Amino acid sequence: MDSHIQFYLVIFMVTVATVLSPAVAKLTPNYYDRICPKALPIIKSVVKQAIYREPRIGASLLRLHFHDCFVNGCDASVLLDDTPTFRGEKTAFPNINSIRGFEVVDQIKAAVTKACRRDVVSCADILAIAARDSVAILGGNQYWYQVLLGRRDARNASWDAANANLPPPFFNFSQLITNFNSHGLNLKDLVVLSGGHTIGFAKCATFRDRIFNDTNIDTTFAANLQKTCPRIGGDNNLAPFDSTPKKVDTAYYTSLLYKRGLLHSDQELFKGDGSQSDNLVLKYSKDSYAFAKDFGVSMIKMGNLKPLTGKKGEIRCNCRKVNSY
Ligand code: HEM
Ligand SMILES: *[C@@H]1O[C@H](CO)[C@@H](O)[C@H](O)[C@H]1NC(C)=O
Ligand SMILES: *[C@@H]1O[C@H](CO)[C@@H](O)[C@H](O)[C@H]1NC(C)=O
Ligand SMILES: *[C@@H]1O[C@H](CO)[C@@H](O)[C@H](O)[C@H]1NC(C)=O
Repeated sequence: MDSHIQFYLVIFMVTVATVLSPAVAKLTPNYYDRICPKALPIIKSVVKQAIYREPRIGASLLRLHFHDCFVNGCDASVLLDDTPTFRGEKTAFPNINSIRGFEVVDQIKAAVTKACRRDVVSCADILAIAARDSVAILGGNQYWYQVLLGRRDARNASWDAANANLPPPFFNFSQLITNFNSHGLNLKDLVVLSGGHTIGFAKCATFRDRIFNDTNIDTTFAANLQKTCPRIGGDNNLAPFDSTPKKVDTAYYTSLLYKRGLLHSDQELFKGDGSQSDNLVLKYSKDSYAFAKDFGVSMIKMGNLKPLTGKKGEIRCNCRKVNSY
């Protein structure tokens, strides 16, 4: 064969292999446009109904996606029940009696399977879309961002990895940074994504030490919370992260300026010492446009953590169980 033709043939084959290779497959915003164009509108409508029934579910769905992505990537491992071959993530310390929203995920899965007439939408993508829709519904158009899609679902999960990789509320600033860095996320991502706490609630057990022992806390704020959360008992009593727990807004950041962060880890982001983190908190407290824009960017970055694509993993039929063949 002519050596020029051979050369171009090799280039052509390499290009085809690169385009088709699962190893380089990337998430894209239009992944379901052809395989199931109804998928995204259906997910949004189920999320909307669920939030209408119970506004807190939006917060719970956002947190599910975070807890999925921080444990071996965004692969829906968080949704798997325990099996004889692995202990799942649901009973790990950061998750037990705490993460919620599994019934809504099941409802979404049933609705998309029906609309698409087959199992084409992964549980991992459902979590990413439901998180985005929750934020947009509770925050308005300003907080909408384009979600990237094409993730596939893991066939295992890890109790140990969930305990090791999710940050606990007693972490100090440097521990939080180390944890986020270990996921390829930086200081700005930490401050912006912690803004997820603009919605939802925490249990007394997660902020008791803060309201009794921390010094970097508003005394009136602490005294009020001690009524909901006494030294002994009331572990499951809830308190909102900010004054507007059903609204995605910048009140979370404003609360930090007044030493009214609910968790120790929240207040670690603002200490009033002029740090880089302080400056970001200050900026987001004043500029909802900057917060909305940066939140979307960091959510997409978090959503890109080690997704399974191409032939890796599977599209689960039941989000709580791996497929049996
Ligand atoms: C920076 C480190 C973080 C720590 C230490 C942390 C810790 C916590 C804790 C302890 C709770 C309360 C759980 C309970 O009492 O049951 C909580 C709730 C929540 N977290 Fe985080 N979190 C962090 C980051 C994030 C991120 C990055 C997001 C999402 C982008 C997020 C979203 C939420 C939401 C929405 C809730 C409320 C859930 C509900 O009401 O059901 N958190 N977090
Ligand atoms: C699942 O198994 C693979 C291969 O053994 C491993 O790399 C991955 O970390 C595991 N995932 C979880 C969630 O444990
Ligand atoms: C943060 O916590 C770690 C582990 O407890 C500790 O070694 C470190 O000194 C703390 N950092 C600060 C700035 O307090
Ligand atoms: C506060 O600190 C004291 C002394 O270190 C400790 O015994 C106690 O358990 C901490 N938490 C609360 C809620 O008092």
